[in-house]
Amino acid sequence: MTMPVSSQQKTIHEAALATSYVVPDVTSRKNQGLAHAEDYTLPQPLDRYSDQDHQTWEQLYQRQHALLPGRACDAFLAGMDLLPMGANRIPVFEELNEVLHQATRWRIVAVHGLIPDEVFFTHLSQRRFPVTWWIREPDKLDYLQEPDVFHDLFGHVPLLMNPVFADYLQAYGLGGVKAQHLGALPMLARLYWYTVEFGLLKTSAGLRIYGAGIVSSRTESLYSLESLSPNRVGFDLLRVMRTRYRIDTFQKTYFVIDDFQQLFAATAPDFTPYYEDLSKRPALGAGELIASDEVLQRGDQSDWSDTADI
Ligand SMILES: [Fe+2]
Repeated sequence: MTMPVSSQQKTIHEAALATSYVVPDVTSRKNQGLAHAEDYTLPQPLDRYSDQDHQTWEQLYQRQHALLPGRACDAFLAGMDLLPMGANRIPVFEELNEVLHQATRWRIVAVHGLIPDEVFFTHLSQRRFPVTWWIREPDKLDYLQEPDVFHDLFGHVPLLMNPVFADYLQAYGLGGVKAQHLGALPMLARLYWYTVEFGLLKTSAGLRIYGAGIVSSRTESLYSLESLSPNRVGFDLLRVMRTRYRIDTFQKTYFVIDDFQQLFAATAPDFTPYYEDLSKRPALGAGELIASDEVLQRGDQSDWSDTADI
């Protein structure tokens, strides 16, 4: 069955959390004969990129690059301008790192694909962002099951040039290491999902995208901002951590932050009492609204493929 285009990347987190996760065929095929280190990294295998791979990058890059001005937030667009990342070829990670490290002391590291949670969190906590090195096949431009270099790099790395967001992501990694011991990963995964992957930002010029799952998807870039179907709700940390999410459709609810400082401040306290509190309350459906919500838009559900989990 072909799933809706939506968030072309079902992410790292969701898939990695499934204990029975099976490495998809494409990941195995692309990595055949390539070893990785104990921390799951490998040197970016530049010689494995074909001309077709670079063309696929070019096509995706040009499409999103044209679509995002006026839709992606300024910090994302500024980060992209500063990084040595263009349309003509898949970027060389080491060239990106020279600029990225200078700006925020982050580095990207090449990985085969999805990696175990504890490894993922440890990398983030040490300001290393794991990036899948390979790119999707040309017949799967709009849908793939797992992250590839376009999602991981184009979607995530420009914002790592922003000092506040860069600190937020490191704090998230540190929180993840801790959450594992507290059995709280599902709650923390929701926070990642609704911010790092599918977050929207309020600006004086209107809503803007900062989530990587949106900026790397043509269709969700349009839907997240323009559709009347989804709810758009002001960010509230505990509310977000109670909210289930869908990996097989567009989001039914987007959470909107005022600025990155709000995110960083909300996630600064120790989460241990939050997890305790949340464990006593039922989770909320992906499309559900509650009385305490700051509702920016009540979705009319008109484009939803189903009304499950509302
Ligand atoms: Fe992602």
